[in-house]
Amino acid sequence: MTEAALRARAVDALTEEEAAAELAALAAEIARHDALYHRQDAPEISDADYDALVRRNRAVEARFPELLRADSPSRRVGAEAAEGFAKLRHGVPMLSLDNAFSDADFSEFCARIRRFLGLPAEERLAFVGEPKIDGLSVNLLYEAGRFVRGATRGDGTEGEDVTQNLLTLADLPKRLPTPFPTRIEIRGEVFCEKADFLAFRAAQAQAAEEREARRARSEKVGPAITVPVNPRNFAAGSLRQLDPAITAQRPLKLFAYAMGEASEQPAETHGAWLQRLRDWGFRVNPESTALADEAAALDFQQRIGAARAGLSYDIDGVVYKLDRLDWQRRLGFVGRAPRWAIAWKFPAEQATTVLLDIQIQVGRTGALTPRAVMQPVGVGGVMVTHASLHNEDEIARKDVRIGDAVILQRAGDVIPQILGIVPEKRPEGAQPFVFPAVCPACGSHAIRPEGEVVRRCTGGLICPAQTVERLIHFTRRNAMDIEGLGEENIQTLFDAGLVKSPADIFRLHAHAEVMRTWEGWGGKAGRESKKVANLLAAIETRRRVPLERFIFALGIRRIGEANAKLLARHYHSFAEWRAKMIAATTIGSEAREELGSIQGIGPAIATELAEFFVEARNRAALDDLAAEVTPEDSVVAAAADSAFAGRTLVFTGTLQTMSRDEAEAQAERLGAKVTKSVSKKTDFVVVGAEAGSKATKAAELGLRILTEAEWREMAGIA
Ligand code: IVH
Repeated sequence: MTEAALRARAVDALTEEEAAAELAALAAEIARHDALYHRQDAPEISDADYDALVRRNRAVEARFPELLRADSPSRRVGAEAAEGFAKLRHGVPMLSLDNAFSDADFSEFCARIRRFLGLPAEERLAFVGEPKIDGLSVNLLYEAGRFVRGATRGDGTEGEDVTQNLLTLADLPKRLPTPFPTRIEIRGEVFCEKADFLAFRAAQAQAAEEREARRARSEKVGPAITVPVNPRNFAAGSLRQLDPAITAQRPLKLFAYAMGEASEQPAETHGAWLQRLRDWGFRVNPESTALADEAAALDFQQRIGAARAGLSYDIDGVVYKLDRLDWQRRLGFVGRAPRWAIAWKFPAEQATTVLLDIQIQVGRTGALTPRAVMQPVGVGGVMVTHASLHNEDEIARKDVRIGDAVILQRAGDVIPQILGIVPEKRPEGAQPFVFPAVCPACGSHAIRPEGEVVRRCTGGLICPAQTVERLIHFTRRNAMDIEGLGEENIQTLFDAGLVKSPADIFRLHAHAEVMRTWEGWGGKAGRESKKVANLLAAIETRRRVPLERFIFALGIRRIGEANAKLLARHYHSFAEWRAKMIAATTIGSEAREELGSIQGIGPAIATELAEFFVEARNRAALDDLAAEVTPEDSVVAAAADSAFAGRTLVFTGTLQTMSRDEAEAQAERLGAKVTKSVSKKTDFVVVGAEAGSKATKAAELGLRILTEAEWREMAGIA
């Protein structure tokens, strides 16, 4: 029996052998969809279809409990909630450090060491100073010179086993060159450089915005995309991924700086220990410095403090470690911190400056984001002129007004944030900021739907900030489906000024000569390239499209494929739809009521449609497009009396006169429900060439089988 036939079989009818095969198939299929959804953000099936698979798996397991598989989907909850990490106990605990914030604190630390060791006041204490990296500490166990496992700090006694993830770090030596102790724990900090963090953050922010745009169009989206707030969180999140393949893609680095359990002592001083680490191939912070005495130690803190902003990674202070390891051993620990080391913490970098203006930026999806423009000010050695104010509520909450003195901080030392204002310094007459109700990029009105924090431009079709995104959506496979017009080509055409609106695509033929001169578009080496001709031909084939595709292609917020279909079925023709939508812009009108009462549309979506049509320039762009493209009437009017209305239909085999997609769409327009598998509930099976098991099954079940010609005739296709 084929997999599809097995899937169509009722759970009650399965033999044990079939059930085992079906559970194996379901486990593989569900795992694949989990990965698509959780890891690639690219689900292929709807949530409902996915749930149906999970339910079927559970039903089969309930009937045959003895067949429960080790990799059964019911033992997992999505890909995220896999087991988590095993716990690993550190050979010796991983401690924290006491803090010093002043010269006096540091002197007291030195005095305590002298007291404890019974050293005279004139005994010079040599230290090693190291930057205190803001990352997360790890413990790496090497046995016989090989890396065997590694853990996060956890509670200090046991951490999480992140061995597989650590193995993806280029900085981690897998083997140590001789000589090495039989067993040694090496400690260090996993971190991410500021530039790598910023690049990743920018990419994530864009992905999140694109996801939001898809969600707004009611398209399927993967799980929420989190934008990391600072390099530390980013490094921690990246190292603690359940899938090491994800960690491998993250730009993580490792500085080694300490020792845990060791079978023999590899050095006499901390300085020599760091040299051993270097010899073994570890990255050791190049700023680490031998400090002959207290005075040198205080200088070090100042020097690193001044260099802080210029370092490629975040630090939150420096760490002083007594150089002599024999003294370290004698000093030992008090509570959770060693007596031989201390962290000198730097203050958070803040500065006060004047807010000159609040600019509004428009994202690719029409989101309006306020941005503070400030009198340039140095924060930790970097000149800051701009900071995001996030959204209009944030401005109101902080009561930030133009002219105010604002307190700035760089979050995780990288991204400038406005913490608040200095009320005493508010200039007389400073007015509360009024968030614009029109889009600064195109002048269309900008609305903020109830319950949302973001205000958006409604000029989707005409707003320059959104044009490229809209054009990409317009030409997509499930929208206008223009072959050869992918993201890259759209960007090229837009940059060249040839396509600014959807209608422009249909006027491209007038620019064929220009396009042919472009590199990669025309026949450079004498042979005429077909690219331009093919593209123009593909565009011509889409001058007639089903109304529902046309509506979906417009990219109106919350009008995804399903809603576009509902609208097309309800209004039948483009002219009718357009007229009714314009009428529906009047709240309380009959047309608005009608729109809101369509099953599956509702008042909120009705509002989105009205917002689109209220904008005169959207209407103009729509009419411009309708002059080039003819949306075909939705023929569902005939559905009620069609033989297929309310019936379930399966197409199998290859159709000769139309594509499977087209046939299915046609059947749906006639009111049929199209499914993929044959069951007792199927009413008609349309059998094309080389039909396989579905046709056999249909015959077995005694279902009504149609040839392609019979189907065409009954469907009224000429
Ligand atoms: S030595 C017993 N050195 O700071 C000494 N720690 O507050 C253990 N850290 O958990 C730590 N840079 O995550 C040491 N150069 C450095 C460090 C460093 C950052 C972190 C580490 C530790 C925390 C202690």
